[in-house]
Amino acid sequence: MTDSRKLKFGAIIHGVGGSITGWRHPKVLSDASVNLDFYKRQALTAEEGKFDLVFIADGLYINEKSIPHFLNRFEPLTILSALAAVTSHIGLVGTLSTSYSEPFTVARQFASLDKISGGRAGWNVVTSPLEGSARNHNIRNHPAHADRYEIAEEHLDVVRGLWDSWEDDAFVRDKESGVFFDPDKLHTLNHTGRYFSVEGPLNIDRSKQGQPVVFQAGSSEAGKSLAARSADTVFTGHERLEDAQAFYRDVKQRAIANGRQAQDIAILPGINPIVGATREEAEAKYQEIASLMTIEKALEYLGRFFDHHDFSQYELDAPFPDLGDIGSNSFKSGTDKIKQDAKEQGLTLRQVALRSATPKTAFIGTAEDVADRIQEWFEAEAADGFIVHTDLPSGLRSFVDHVVPILQERGLYRLDYESDTLRGNLGVPIPENRYTAQRQQPSTVEASV
Ligand SMILES: Cc1cc2nc3c(=O)[nH]c(=O)nc-3n(C[C@H](O)[C@H](O)[C@H](O)COP(=O)(O)O)c2cc1C
Repeated sequence: MTDSRKLKFGAIIHGVGGSITGWRHPKVLSDASVNLDFYKRQALTAEEGKFDLVFIADGLYINEKSIPHFLNRFEPLTILSALAAVTSHIGLVGTLSTSYSEPFTVARQFASLDKISGGRAGWNVVTSPLEGSARNHNIRNHPAHADRYEIAEEHLDVVRGLWDSWEDDAFVRDKESGVFFDPDKLHTLNHTGRYFSVEGPLNIDRSKQGQPVVFQAGSSEAGKSLAARSADTVFTGHERLEDAQAFYRDVKQRAIANGRQAQDIAILPGINPIVGATREEAEAKYQEIASLMTIEKALEYLGRFFDHHDFSQYELDAPFPDLGDIGSNSFKSGTDKIKQDAKEQGLTLRQVALRSATPKTAFIGTAEDVADRIQEWFEAEAADGFIVHTDLPSGLRSFVDHVVPILQERGLYRLDYESDTLRGNLGVPIPENRYTAQRQQPSTVEASV
């Protein structure tokens, strides 16, 4: 570990929250998921806490069992563009699916956000877990998990290729001579692959951070390989320190095997900290949210990870049912883990559902407790930082007011932004335009002279 290694933080803004019943809490604004002022306030709070980024998750299919936030929420690129106008340093990361989008449109939208925000955009690459997404996109069948990752690899290559369409000094804009651009610095991709055929060039040039930062969320073997090859940052989720460490080591080693440096890829697990003035107060805050949960809602919440599987058909206090392959084409890494934990720990369906819907994590306690845990995970190389999500809007405020100063005092976290780009703050390299790099390579003839 180097002295300069510092924690990174992202804040998920998710309206009425990631819990299925949390919206009923008196402190939750019940229309928060479609309330621009709420999003602005949360983004400004995160920026006040010098967070690297705000993060907008997304999904492409709902039904009557979806969690309230999913039923009625902003599309990520649209809300992030609005947030770009009211913030100045914080990164703006949004989820967009490689299974249900055209690379040309994705490249164009994120490049636009990147220029609108002055180099603060990030794309969270996901493959989409839910079968119903196909029925919303004129596609006959939801691609299988392995196919989704093959599509994602090619999709991402195409997007990155399009982002390099214009070299950084391509636009001359010389009114005198009438030269608007230098045609030698405009490049057509001409991609023809298994899944995509895209000519290019893209109709927008690069921002000052070169290309938007690429996040990857998906923790299966295929997900880790994609991340190790192509992502700048990984969003993941682990309850236990040892699991997070194993994941961290695995992804960094895979990155090195791909010819990259370990520090080229940042690993950020999600955490849901609950901070109280005392441990009792933090516990009471957790209980307030947990007490809103019913077992019926917990079963619905659990069911979504298994592509909305109906768990109400099973005996609640019997061992967790044997589900065979159910869930493997959905949130595979998540459902594999749920099945494995249930088996190893002999859990009942009721226990699994409640654990999943009202998880009690290690990040609940006083500000010192939460800071200690963060420091422990960071120093044990289980994380390079964290994506913070809170069920109550005041949770982010408490984190920024009470936990951040402790981490700053301990020298683990920045006092101010190092840069006004997302790459600059995350410390991930700016990718040189591939054509500029080629131009600068000495030709074989020159090299042999
Ligand atoms: C931490 C994490 C966050 C995710 N966020 C999203 C998201 O915002 N939208 C989405 O459609 N899928 C999301 N996914 C699901 C992935 O897109 C993927 O489809 C699913 O997890 C299966 O891949 P895996 O088995 O590699 O994890 C997320 C997955 C993880 C692990």
